[in-house]
Amino acid sequence: MRLLVTGGAGFIGANFVHDAVCEHDVTVLDALTYAGSRESLAPVENKIRLVEGDITDAELVGKLIAETDAVVHFAAETHVDNSLSGPEPFLNANVIGTFTILEAVRAHNVRLHHISTDEVYGDLELNSPQRFTESTPYNPSSPYSSTKAAADMLVRAWVRSYGVRATISNCSNNYGPYQHVEKFIPRQITNVLTGRRPKLYGAGANVRDWIHVSDHNSAVRRILADGQIGRTYLIGAGGERDNLTVMRTILRLMDRDPEDFDHVTDRVGHDLRYAIDATMLRDELGWSPTHTDFEDGLRATIDWYRANESWWAPLKDAVEAGYAGRNQ
Ligand SMILES: NC(=O)c1ccc[n+]([C@@H]2O[C@H](COP(=O)([O-])OP(=O)(O)OC[C@H]3O[C@@H](n4cnc5c(N)ncnc54)[C@H](O)[C@@H]3O)[C@@H](O)[C@H]2O)c1
Repeated sequence: MRLLVTGGAGFIGANFVHDAVCEHDVTVLDALTYAGSRESLAPVENKIRLVEGDITDAELVGKLIAETDAVVHFAAETHVDNSLSGPEPFLNANVIGTFTILEAVRAHNVRLHHISTDEVYGDLELNSPQRFTESTPYNPSSPYSSTKAAADMLVRAWVRSYGVRATISNCSNNYGPYQHVEKFIPRQITNVLTGRRPKLYGAGANVRDWIHVSDHNSAVRRILADGQIGRTYLIGAGGERDNLTVMRTILRLMDRDPEDFDHVTDRVGHDLRYAIDATMLRDELGWSPTHTDFEDGLRATIDWYRANESWWAPLKDAVEAGYAGRNQ
């Protein structure tokens, strides 16, 4: 199959492309924002076509989609903290960008899989048995999650109104190689590796449902192959942990004192807890995660950051300067 992967030079997209080249003829469309990098695609650079361009560029998007059998749409602005300090790029990339993709797949009758997040559902009480399901009402908290929610709504409407052949997946928090050092887990690992003290927002009580990026991507491949058009699938691996526990685990795995970190100003409107019920995906498509031991996955991720300093080191100082400016 000819696959167009938007955002394929970002964290999850690059991991997806590394595997997809074994089965598909892959074109990546990526604006190479601060979050995307050619280096993330270096292992497969001779097997793909990388087009540097913006998903809001209707002419370019139309041309690429006319030449493809399916689109996997990862491209987005993704960092909640950035969305709080400057929401406009999130509207452009996440809403107008998705609209542009939808219009092109409609014009050329091309299959679309739209990647979204569990953050569209808002948050859950700590210590409640509740988890998100496909029928949980949308209740986004941040400019990031509200623009992703808007994009999901556009996809649903284009399926209903125009018969666009699309599926949606909403996944929980990913971790693994090639994640930008602005994000929680790589930030703490690279803080230790650069002799900085790790930083925890508030008391660290917020719970995230961690999934290894390769499990997210194996679910995306299942949905792309056999997902029912018009359906939303929730992707999660039962990996609920509070941030304090994740911080202490990282420090322990890196042979540091588990209490050797700073508490910093909490994120405004910080969602308390996310948790996914992925029963439908497991039952309907027979998917299950393979990285079920979080500590093993985290250890491998730490090893990857140790071995790939040249990938992340050029980004680190600017990211920490940005956080320092916000007392974080
Ligand atoms: N990271 C997570 O934990 C997580 C969880 C669930 C869902 N998601 C979703 O998965 C997708 C990928 O997330 P990620 O963590 O890999 O993000 P990322 O920030 O690492 O990568 C995003 C990529 O999109 C590109 N991009 C941004 N704006 C663009 C534009 N206007 N045109 C073309 N390319 C553009 C960037 O250059 C970058 O390569 C997003 O849609 C995100 O909402 C992420």
